[in-house]
Amino acid sequence: MSTTEIPIGTIDAAAAALLDSRLVILPTETVYGLAGRADRVDAVARIYHTKGRPSDHPVIVHVADYDGAIHDSWASAFPTLAQELAHAFWPGPLTLVLPRGPRSGLNVTGGQETVALRVPAHPIAQAVLRSMNEQDPQDAPHGIAAPSANRFGRVSPTMAQHAITELSPYLQPGDLALDGGACSWGVESTIVDCTGKRPVILRPGGVTTEDIAALGLDPMTISQPTTRVPGSLASHYAPRAQVVLHESGAVPVDGVPADRQGFVALADIETPAGMCRLAAPRTNVEYARMLYSALRAADDADLLHVVAVLPAEVDGVGAAVADRLRRASSPR
Ligand code: TXA
Ligand code: MG
Repeated sequence: MSTTEIPIGTIDAAAAALLDSRLVILPTETVYGLAGRADRVDAVARIYHTKGRPSDHPVIVHVADYDGAIHDSWASAFPTLAQELAHAFWPGPLTLVLPRGPRSGLNVTGGQETVALRVPAHPIAQAVLRSMNEQDPQDAPHGIAAPSANRFGRVSPTMAQHAITELSPYLQPGDLALDGGACSWGVESTIVDCTGKRPVILRPGGVTTEDIAALGLDPMTISQPTTRVPGSLASHYAPRAQVVLHESGAVPVDGVPADRQGFVALADIETPAGMCRLAAPRTNVEYARMLYSALRAADDADLLHVVAVLPAEVDGVGAAVADRLRRASSPR
């Protein structure tokens, strides 16, 4: 176990490191990912070890573009439904669950016959994937497994330093990080199961139910998927501080000093007396962007509770904010 921080590399060095089965912390437009070559058993095993993640929880495979995704190696079929979603929202915060292709091993899919694929929009993630394809065209299109770059069950990182601090003790010499500043969405991608007739939303995110319905599709949301989605465990995305949820106004938790409690709510809701305001987003989009940093700030300040007010409207990305807050507040 190293105690020094993992170094920041260049895009080409990160692509070379990935090709060589090393791990790279890299920005996406949703959250930072811990990337490793999806077709290398050793790299994928190190991702699970570094995160402390149970091996039956599948990871998402990220590819550079649509052509890479429809190549029959990663997914064995790409139904019309998936094509429509991909054309509308890729590159972007959308992950499609599809029948597993031969290059998506059971070690990546958590033993399931489906694989989750995503084309990220972040210029750094894009450049790394393109550089891998250029440096090693023979094995293109390359895919990287990249779960959120946090320890299992904890808050996803939206800044490079969050991921570097949390994971450096578990990384190895030769692994690298890339810093792309703050993530623009701040919550993980929407996951849509495309293996049936209707799109099934397994995890809400930046691509919303309304966005999918606007294509003339008929999305269905399930809150407790039967497929293994770790973000669907009751307690997930959780800081050390206990998260306490309110529907509208809020009061401090009884018996705990107000100054050991943090407060998160839309800007128009006043901070209860004595509590530490962690975020005052003006919109649901800002709420999503600020949420995880606010939860981390609570731990940095050694707060005991985070009192959070759910977004008043849970349309759009507000549904993802409410989903993550509920899971963060679930009993552990
Ligand atoms: O925005 C994101 O998706 C970020 C960035 C880094 O791309 N990644 C991310 O990865 O959130 P992770 O591993 O933290 O969450 C991946 C989710 C999990 O909930 C996992 O269970 C689900 O994708 N998943 C992966 N393969 C699946 C499959 N075959 N069926 C159903 N869910 C699957
Ligand atoms: Mg995660």
